[in-house]
Amino acid sequence: MAKKLKILIFPDPRLRKVAENVTKFDKCLENLAHDMLETMYDANGIGLAATQVDQHIRLVVMDLSEERNEPRIFVNPMYEVIKGHNMFEFEEGCLSIPGFNEVIARPDKIKLIWQNLKGETLHDTPEGMLTVCIQHEIDHLDGKLMVDYVSALKRDRIKSKLLKEFKRF
Ligand code: NI
Repeated sequence: MAKKLKILIFPDPRLRKVAENVTKFDKCLENLAHDMLETMYDANGIGLAATQVDQHIRLVVMDLSEERNEPRIFVNPMYEVIKGHNMFEFEEGCLSIPGFNEVIARPDKIKLIWQNLKGETLHDTPEGMLTVCIQHEIDHLDGKLMVDYVSALKRDRIKSKLLKEFKRF
């Protein structure tokens, strides 16, 4: 049975750790992926990176379907921006920054490479939501957050509001 994990909230310093590559494709990895999906569905999110549940390996889960029945798992995801891309603006949210949405501009054409739970390599040139979402999640694996795209003033405002709201640091 998958279990719900605790999601780290900004400005928790553990959200800044850079995640390690996954090298073992074992039951342990599979269990973590399923626990992360459970956690993501429970929180009503569309994506979650292992970093957000204090597991510092390159693992991302996602479900972009309206019916919430198309779980996707990305191990060691990477992307390259395709030449001739445009910047696409989208209002993003983040389970680690509850209550805040930010419009962020990201490249709209990428080549995405990842592995599945068996360690098989897959690739895709996604369109739409997946393009934005996977860039957001890979940022998490690199210790980068949505708030890094806004002004320092705004970031400090978000930080003090969340510190007040989640007195657990
Ligand atoms: Ni996020």
